[in-house]
Amino acid sequence: MPMSKKTMLEGRLRRRLRSHGLATFDAYCRFLFDDGGLEDEAPHLIDVVTTNKTDFFREPEHFDFLMSHLLPAMLGDGRGRASTPIKIWSAASSTGAEAYTLAMLMAEARRRVPDLTTYILGTDICHDVLSTAVDGIYPEAMLEPIPEELRRLYTRRGRGRARGQFRMAPELRAQVHFGRLNLMDSSFPVDRDMDLIFCRNILIYFDKPTQQRVLERLTEHLRPGGHLVLGHSESFSGRSLPLKQVVATVFRKV
Ligand SMILES: C[S@@+](CC[C@H](N)C(=O)[O-])C[C@H]1O[C@@H](n2cnc3c(N)ncnc32)[C@H](O)[C@@H]1O
Repeated sequence: MPMSKKTMLEGRLRRRLRSHGLATFDAYCRFLFDDGGLEDEAPHLIDVVTTNKTDFFREPEHFDFLMSHLLPAMLGDGRGRASTPIKIWSAASSTGAEAYTLAMLMAEARRRVPDLTTYILGTDICHDVLSTAVDGIYPEAMLEPIPEELRRLYTRRGRGRARGQFRMAPELRAQVHFGRLNLMDSSFPVDRDMDLIFCRNILIYFDKPTQQRVLERLTEHLRPGGHLVLGHSESFSGRSLPLKQVVATVFRKV
C-alpha cells in the first residue's frame, strides 16, 4: 500500500489493537512480526484492511453488454449446454452482489433457453465478506438497483427479526459457489476454461507490477475467446497479454 493510505490503514487497524489490548502500532508490529502473532492474526488483519464496497448491478453497462452481445455469441457457439456450461468467475467478489447479479441474469436467460447450464464462482480474500456471500443476506437498501421483476423472482424479504433485510432465493444461492482466493497467490485452484472473468474494482489497489502478474494469471484461466471484464476506472497497457479490447474495460482472449 502507498504511504498515502497510512491514515486510513491506521484507522482500520485500531480495532485490532484494541482487541489485543495494545496501545501503539509499534506494539502491534512487535506482536505480529517478533512474537509470532501474524499467523493467527492474518485473517482478522485482512478483514479490517480490505475495502469491500460492492453493489448489485454495479457498473450496469457490463451486464447490458453481457446480455446483448456476449451471451448470444456464447449460445451461438453451442456453449451453455450440459457438456459445456458457461463458466463465470467473479474474482474479488466481496459480499457476492456481483456473482448474484450474474446468477439472476443467467436465471433470466434460462427462462428463454431452458437447458442453459452455467457455473458461477465467486472468490475473495476476505473471510467476512465470503460468509455474507454464502448466506446471501443483505440490508434492504441494497435492493434498490435490482430491477423490480428480478427482485420479485429471486429475492425474499425478511420478516420478524430479519425485517430490513432480504435474502437471495435458495434456488439462486444453489447456483453460485464461493471460496477464498488471494489474487496475489502464484497459482489459482480454478478451472482454466472460464468463459468470463469479472475482476472489477480491485486492480486499482495493486501496484503496476502486481496488476500485471494478476492479469497474466487471470488470462491463463480464460478459454481462448473468453472475456475479461475490469472495473470502469481500471485499464492496463497489456501489450504482452493475449487480450484484445472489445469495448472499454472488456477484453477477449485471443
Ligand atoms: C471494492 S471490492 C469490489 C467488489 C466487486 N468486484 C465489485 O466491483 O463490486 C474489492 C474486493 O477485493 C477483495 N480483495 C482485496 N485484495 C484481494 C486479494 N489479494 N485477492 C482477492 N481479493 C482481494 C476485497 O476483500 C474486496 O472484497
